[in-house]
This record gives sequence, structure tokens and C-alpha cells, in this order.
Amino acid sequence: MNSSVKVVLFERVSPPILAVILGELKTGKLPTSLLSLDSVTGGALSRLVAAGDFTGKRDQVAVVYPPKRPKRVVLVGLGEQVEMTRGAVRRAAAVAARKTIELEAESMAVFITPEGRGGVPPQVVGQMLIEGAVQGAWQFSDLKSEDPKKLRAVEILATREDRADMERGRRVGKAIASGHVLARNLQVLPGNVCTPTYLASVARKLGKAYDHRVTVLSRQHIEKAQMNALLAVAQGSQQEPQFIILEHRAAGRKPPLCFVGKGITFDSGGISIKPSEKMEEMKYDMSGAAAVLGLFEALGHLKPKVNVVGLIPTTENLPSGTAVKPGDIVRGMLGKSIEIINTDAEGRLILCDALAYARKYKPACVIDAATLTGSVVIALGHHATGLMGNDDPLVEEVRRAGDLGGERCWPLPLWDEYREQLKSDIADIKNVGGRPAGSLTAGWFLREFVDGFPWAHLDIAGTAWTDADRPDLAKGPTGTGVRLFTEFVMGRAGG
Ligand code: BES
Ligand code: MN
Ligand code: ZN
Repeated sequence: MNSSVKVVLFERVSPPILAVILGELKTGKLPTSLLSLDSVTGGALSRLVAAGDFTGKRDQVAVVYPPKRPKRVVLVGLGEQVEMTRGAVRRAAAVAARKTIELEAESMAVFITPEGRGGVPPQVVGQMLIEGAVQGAWQFSDLKSEDPKKLRAVEILATREDRADMERGRRVGKAIASGHVLARNLQVLPGNVCTPTYLASVARKLGKAYDHRVTVLSRQHIEKAQMNALLAVAQGSQQEPQFIILEHRAAGRKPPLCFVGKGITFDSGGISIKPSEKMEEMKYDMSGAAAVLGLFEALGHLKPKVNVVGLIPTTENLPSGTAVKPGDIVRGMLGKSIEIINTDAEGRLILCDALAYARKYKPACVIDAATLTGSVVIALGHHATGLMGNDDPLVEEVRRAGDLGGERCWPLPLWDEYREQLKSDIADIKNVGGRPAGSLTAGWFLREFVDGFPWAHLDIAGTAWTDADRPDLAKGPTGTGVRLFTEFVMGRAGG
């Protein structure tokens, strides 16, 4: 999508839609910043507001048709003043974009009232408007024969004072939005298209486009590295497993920030097969991998002065005559023996080898994202990502990055008692800990393979996909992780 920041009078706006984002109106009167637009509409705005038909509640939308330009004014409500956060701005921009697509327009101008944006600084406003517009405009039609109408261009209207700041924000927003789109496009792809080798080809393309160093370990190299837990999951599939490494190097020899993403391109459960109902959804079991690839798309634009390593263990999880069986024991890269009680707890198996591999980089920290447990949906529903780790300050830093990115995380406790549930009679550890606290025993399993670095784990099983069509987000893949990761990196890079 094209985007720009412009200083233009309302009556000179050329796109067929002018979206105006404003906060809740307590008095039935327009804010003063919209008085000139009111006269452009021949007083239609003030009549609409006086009639009480638009009050600026969150997600509220009203369309007004001025006599001349612009063709339509779309008012979008931000909600109450206390809710005037960056997230409210992003959300309203997404609502505006979705309305624009509904009206079959291909471009929109967007203006947020100074009253409405509250304390959110202009740079952040610029960033949020683009993040939101791109989020709202997202649709996936690559596999359909007919092309739907697309939103192709967004013009941010700025005042002369704010213009430079908003432009800076626009560029950041565009970078993050590109990563977000990349992740969603991957998540939505079916398992027969988005295979482990397909993910590797996407990584290579990113490497070429942005000068990231990309290394893909094939089965042979995975064997050599003794990532036997990853191989155990892969042994039931005809698809070649891949271990993808991406590196953004821009800070000399400084220890890198390391991001790990679960890349199960289809999770049938393996021999511990899942029920067929909704099994097709398990194509998005590579959402963690998509988040890491989305991060590297964003880094390609932003080029922050930090070192970042992305690690993606990827394979399918299928039953077959060669598949790993319940009761089988493997020794992963770290050397601990693992009793595989349930082959459907495969995410932790491929991740434990990635965490062991991460030691090689002597990372400043490691953050993983994984659609790891159905249990996290029981704990937090679809409204927050489960957050765990071995280092409280890191966990808090990740939580804050999630708030900045509009990807809320909630800490869950890795108390020692939960570790007990993973004791095996014949191996060092087993891969499931029973029904109680399933997300925590999964977290503990990973922690057992974390050796010598601060680590945080995001269980995105409840947040990577939405069945509900939200006003600001179409149903389907959410791209979760991309914004959190990027905000985290920017935070470490010094803003
Ligand atoms: N990929 C699933 C988790 C999942 C569930 C993701 C729902 C998205 C939505 C994971 O591999 C899995 O199957 N987990 C099992 C673990 C159990 C066998 C201990 C689960 O949650 O049931
Ligand atoms: Mn599974
Ligand atoms: Zn899985």
C-alpha cells in the first residue's frame, strides 16, 4: 500500500474518502478543528452530530456526502478520552480502512482531530495510522480467481507543525505493517502450499531483498547438529524438515537478540492424532515462524543498529509408518533424554532443539513465539498471549513491547511445583505433564532446554487466529508477534 503525509485543505482532498477520526463528543458539538470541514459539507457534520447520530463511540462509523470534494467524509469514533492511547488510534484507522473497502474505494485520506488524539505524540500517531490502515485493509485473495477491490493508498493529513514527525512515524508504521502483512499471508496459506521448504524460500527471499544473512539447515545438517527432537517430529512426514537461521547484523560483535518461532506447517497430532473437527485450522501452527519472518521484513526496512538472530525449526507433524510413537525416547541437541508420551505435544520438541541451538550465538536474550497449547485458550481466551520466562525483567520488557504493539501478553507463573508433572519414569523428562496447567508444563519443558541466557516464551495459540470478524480485524490470521518483536527490538536499539 502506498502512503504519504500531506498538508492539504479539506476541500482539496483528492481521494474519494476522507476518514476523520475523533473522540467521544459529550456536548453534541463538533470539535473546533472540524469547523472548516463542517462548512465544506454544508453543515452536514454539525447536523449529524446535533441529531445524536454520531457520538464518537469506539468503532462507530458515519458517512456524510459533501456537495463537492471530498466525495465522502467517513467519521470514525475513537471512544472515551481515557481510552485515548496509541491502540485506539490504530484501531480507528483499521475501522476506517475496512469501511473504505466496503465502499469500494481504492484510496483514503485520514485526519485525526488534535482533540481526539490526546497525549499521543505525532510520530506515534503517524505510525499507528499506517499500522491500523494496513491491518484493516488486509485481505487474502491469492487463491481466488477474482480479485476484490483493494485499498491501495492512504494519505495522512497533517498540520504544518506535525508533518515531519508524522512522516517519521509513517515510515516506522509502514515497516511494521509490511511485516504484519507478510506474517498473515503466510499463516493463511494451506499446509500443501506453505511447507517447511516454502518457509525457507521466504526466508531466502527476505535475505536477498534486505541483505540479511540466511542459512537453511537441511535434514543432513540437522542430523549433524543432533537436533533429534526436531527429527523425531519430522520422521512421519514426506516433507523435508528445515532449520532456518536469519541474521540482521548491525552492531558489530554485540550479543544478538534472538527470536525463535514454531514452524509446524501442519499439525495433525501425529500418531496421537487430533479429532478431525477443525483440524484444518492447524495450518496456522507455523504462526510463530511467521512472526519471526515478519520481524525480519520489518528489520529490512528499519535497519536498527542491533544484532538480531531468528531461528525457525520447521516440519509437519503427521502419522505414518515411520512416525514417532508414544513411548519413544529421543535425546535432543542438549543431551537430555525425552520420553514422547504424546506426539501431539510436538511444538516443544522442535523448540527445545532450537533453544539448544541458540546457545551458539551467546544471545543477550531469547524470545520464542509458539502456538503451543490449547490450554492457554482455557486460561486467557483469545484476548491475551500467555507469557512465561526465566527472567522477570525480560518478561516485563516483553509485556511492555506487547502493549506498544497492541499485542497484549499476560504473565503466567513457572513455579517449581509445575516442573514435577514432567518427571518421567525412564527418561530425564517427558513431553507432557497432564491436563492441569498445560501451558505451564509446556513452558517448563522449554525452560529445561534453556541454558545460559535470559528467555521469554509467548504462547500464541489463542491469539494467532481469530474466528470472530472484528471491526478492526478481519477473521483469520492476526499476525501476532510481529509488532511485539519489532517494538522490542526498537526498544533495545534505543527507540
Ligand atoms: N498446535 C497445538 C496447540 C494449539 C491448539 C494451537 C489450538 C492452536 C490452537 C499443539 O501442538 C498441541 O497439539 N498441543 C496439545 C498439547 C497436549 C497434547 C499436551 C494441546 O494443547 O492439546
Ligand atoms: Mn500438536
Ligand atoms: Zn502444534
